[in-house]
Amino acid sequence: ATIKYIDQAGGETVLAVPAGTSVMQAAINNGLPGIVGECGGSAMCATCHVYVDEHDIHKFEPPGAPEREMLECTSAPLRETSRLGCQLAVREGDMITVRLPESQQ
Ligand code: FES
Repeated sequence: ATIKYIDQAGGETVLAVPAGTSVMQAAINNGLPGIVGECGGSAMCATCHVYVDEHDIHKFEPPGAPEREMLECTSAPLRETSRLGCQLAVREGDMITVRLPESQQ
């Protein structure tokens, strides 16, 4: 699967990752700034906030209750396409684009 991250300045990073990897974990593994992932992926910190591209948002299951609750705590403004990166596991063949918020903390 492929994940493209677009930062606030418009800089793009494309990562090829194995299926099952989360948008947060892929960023951490590759030292990508802009995603913190403080809680390690348990939907407890909201420092992995991303805006999923509107064309890709349907590729993921809708957020569960713990994620919806945590999304209320993001540092950057919440949008309709806001998700916690740690709850977004990519599937084989997926090509996903996410935008990074201006801040995570
Ligand atoms: Fe903490 Fe995603 S890493 S909520």
